[in-house]
Amino acid sequence: MSKRVIAKVISQEEISPRHFKMVIDAPEVAKEAKIGQFIHLKWVAKLNEHDPLLRRPISLNEIDQEAGTITIIYRAIGRGTQLLATLKAGDQVDLMGPIGMGFSIPEDTNKFVVVGGGMGIAPLYPVVKKLVELNKEVTVLIGAENKGQLLNLADYEEMDVELKASTVDGSYGYQGFVTEFLDDTLIDADYIYTCGPEVMMEVVQNWVIANDIKGEASLEERMGCGTGACLSCVCKIKVRNESGWDYKKTCIQGPVFPLNEVIFDD
Ligand SMILES: Cc1cc2nc3c(=O)[nH]c(=O)nc-3n(C[C@H](O)[C@H](O)[C@H](O)COP(=O)(O)OP(=O)(O)OC[C@H]3O[C@@H](n4cnc5c(N)ncnc54)[C@H](O)[C@@H]3O)c2cc1C
Ligand code: FES
Repeated sequence: MSKRVIAKVISQEEISPRHFKMVIDAPEVAKEAKIGQFIHLKWVAKLNEHDPLLRRPISLNEIDQEAGTITIIYRAIGRGTQLLATLKAGDQVDLMGPIGMGFSIPEDTNKFVVVGGGMGIAPLYPVVKKLVELNKEVTVLIGAENKGQLLNLADYEEMDVELKASTVDGSYGYQGFVTEFLDDTLIDADYIYTCGPEVMMEVVQNWVIANDIKGEASLEERMGCGTGACLSCVCKIKVRNESGWDYKKTCIQGPVFPLNEVIFDD
């Protein structure tokens, strides 16, 4: 169940320009957290200060239940994340979490492919860790603008996974887009997880539908409340009704949905 906690920042590090990794002491959240869930958080200068008013949704990149910590990786792009980036060890964050329906791992399935683009690489790392723990065969496809933005690259290099990475500027791996790996890789997959720009996930979706593979996508919609009350985060998901689709709340019914049911065309 999601809780509101005022938690202490254990460390914050700029891992590449404008990209930050923050470790937070939040045992109550770590205890409940599942892969693919997120936290909704805000910067705290003084308790009960409300600027910015809205919390920001950020995925869990690591969950350490023993240590009672959670780790997030985020890009400082606007006011909320830029304020978060000013925090140091010992400062506090006001967070709600864990939130949402995370990824599932189907039983009796062996070959998994994970496709992440840009900041969408962040929520996929805990899935890969879990799959490796379960001795599954995992191929990780990640793509970003440059090497510094290939999140968790060093972790993947040390794991027992097949790794293919691409960068737009050619600073690491294949020069181009991550979707260009699909031809070689997906046909051999039983199940796929994806997160990243919609245009990328749509290419992955077309592929899995064409090859009759199942999978899950983690969506990023703009969020207000994070509790299912404001409807600002709705997305279109295919269902068997007259219109063929229905609105779902990304915050509490997602952010993870069956990949072949997501409608990306808006
Ligand atoms: C489920 C989920 C998980 C996410 N995980 C990550 C992550 O792990 N790392 C990361 O860097 N980013 C992640 N994002 C995107 C992140 O929430 C936005 O980049 C952030 O809210 C921008 O806030 P800002 O104040 O810096 O920017 P502003 O543009 O000032 O934000 C203004 C408002 O828009 C909302 N907003 C802006 N961009 C987005 C966006 N792309 N998605 C959702 N809401 C947005 C903010 O919540 C805020 O209410 C995630 C988004 C969602 C929905
Ligand atoms: S963010 Fe308010 S309903 Fe989802």
